[in-house]
Amino acid sequence: MNKKIVPFWEEAYREYEAIAFSNEPNATITEFEKKINTQSKVLDAGCGEGQNSIYLAQKGHYVDAFDLSEYGIEKLKYRCELSNTQVNAFVADLTTYQFEQYYDMIVCFGALHFVNKNAWKRFIINAKEYTNIGGIHIIQIFTDAVPAPEDIAPFAVGLAKDEEIKELYTDWDVLQFKSYVFEDEHPNFPKHLHASNKIVARKMR
Ligand SMILES: C[S@@+](CC[C@H](N)C(=O)[O-])C[C@H]1O[C@@H](n2cnc3c(N)ncnc32)[C@H](O)[C@@H]1O
Repeated sequence: MNKKIVPFWEEAYREYEAIAFSNEPNATITEFEKKINTQSKVLDAGCGEGQNSIYLAQKGHYVDAFDLSEYGIEKLKYRCELSNTQVNAFVADLTTYQFEQYYDMIVCFGALHFVNKNAWKRFIINAKEYTNIGGIHIIQIFTDAVPAPEDIAPFAVGLAKDEEIKELYTDWDVLQFKSYVFEDEHPNFPKHLHASNKIVARKMR
């Protein structure tokens, strides 16, 4: 029988002492969190084990966070308990996600390229609709400017073209856009490169 291949982070999500990506929130989130009011409504889509969600909740925001991974969500809940932090975390799929409320900030880090292009574009279009005027999106997606490394290649079905994400935000104020290549490393896998786009945009009207 074929063994189901699972992405490397699933292992780390199961280990409560391990860190899959980072213990620290992403620097772009810490930078732009300052631009939203306290007690804002925030969504972290594809939140993983939740370092960004927990940071945003500790800053006083109401945070909804979802991920496809049950283990990721269980670990996020465990980390919330440990730190006495309130995050509304639940399992959901980006490809079928139905918005039920409006948000002031939507963040999605490193998750969109794991669903096909039509699905991530549809998610962003819906997310834009369900963002309050003045609200901010912070989106990071891998691009095909370098090939996907072997460990994520089977899952990276929706790599963007460089700058493609920008096309979805022409009607918003783009506060920051970065296209970059960075070196990454995980346990049991050699150093490798990722090509990435990161966009921060504000809904103007
Ligand atoms: C590289 S991790 C990033 C996690 C987190 N955003 C962070 O910055 O640490 C990618 C995440 O996307 C999630 N993911 C992949 N496909 C998904 C889908 N269809 N719906 C929701 N989450 C998904 C994975 O389970 C994983 O937690």
